[in-house]
Amino acid sequence: MRKLLGEIKASSLSAIEEAADPGALEAVRVAYLGKKGSLTSVLKQMGKLSAEERPVIGQLANEVRSAIEDAIAEKASQLSEALLELKLKSEKLDVTIPGKPVNTGKKHPMSIVLDEVVDIFTGMGYSVAEGPEVEFADYNFTKLNTSAGHPAREWQDTFYFTEDSSVLLRTQTSPVQIRVMETQRPPIRVISPGRVYRKDEVDATHSPMFHQVEGLVVDKGITMGDLKGTLNTLVKRLYGPDAQTRFRPHHFPFTEPSCEVDFQCFECRGQGCRVCKGEGWIEILGAGMVHPKVLEGCGIDTDVYSGFAFGVGLERLTMRRFNISDMRLLFENDMRFLGQF
Ligand code: PHE
Repeated sequence: MRKLLGEIKASSLSAIEEAADPGALEAVRVAYLGKKGSLTSVLKQMGKLSAEERPVIGQLANEVRSAIEDAIAEKASQLSEALLELKLKSEKLDVTIPGKPVNTGKKHPMSIVLDEVVDIFTGMGYSVAEGPEVEFADYNFTKLNTSAGHPAREWQDTFYFTEDSSVLLRTQTSPVQIRVMETQRPPIRVISPGRVYRKDEVDATHSPMFHQVEGLVVDKGITMGDLKGTLNTLVKRLYGPDAQTRFRPHHFPFTEPSCEVDFQCFECRGQGCRVCKGEGWIEILGAGMVHPKVLEGCGIDTDVYSGFAFGVGLERLTMRRFNISDMRLLFENDMRFLGQF
């Protein structure tokens, strides 16, 4: 029995030594120390021994058992250390690898300029109003003193939704003037940016969809001088103190007197080129003193109040701001172009 215990000790220790992973080690433990393990079955035969032999063999068996247990514990900690080592190696984080670039979006050049325009006007006490792009002819024309039969209402210029021409895609942001004056009392100071639609052919300076920023001021004692000062402030704040404007008399049904405002062509500096069609100047906005008929139609007393209004083209403001010579670039969504701003 002494010899058997010696063999068990030797073979178990070498089996433990060879165990390559926790599963194999557990199998070795079961094989020797388990209920049906070889050491266990030796211990079960202790009863057959003589009274002198029993304590001696018992002590020896206990020594063998604790030697096996110690070896298993030792091996287990070796194995888990090795496993951890392996895990650390495979999950190693190289903090020196350059990061993956994240593509962030950028503002569209027209959004950049619109934000600047909104800043300039809110700084002068204006608020921002909005109106629908699908509009009643009443608001787009009639209430703006543009009665039935006026050439601006022609089917060839306007996108109508209905046979009776009562609903349309707004051709200008001016209907927002009416919506504001019908719901607010003076003093009124608003701008209203948005899309407008006309049956225009696409070229370097035209598109059937474009953007305007409408402006409206109604208060006591408002004059054409206020209009001029306001628009010159806009242009100089956007383009710098040297920016040149030109005010020309014009006609709009809803302003009286009316004017158009041009700025000097940014491409040729007034010489005349393709962008300005040889004029040296580019029209950017229409404006004027709000027609008394329009004010009265909205219930505003023209003995007390007067006002000015303007509608400026956002595409043209943007083209001038960044020296873009073709409007189509603003709508083509070519990232190589848009990424530059
Ligand atoms: N709505 C006019 C246009 O689209 C511009 C304008 C606005 C003129 C306000 C006068 C007053 O041409």
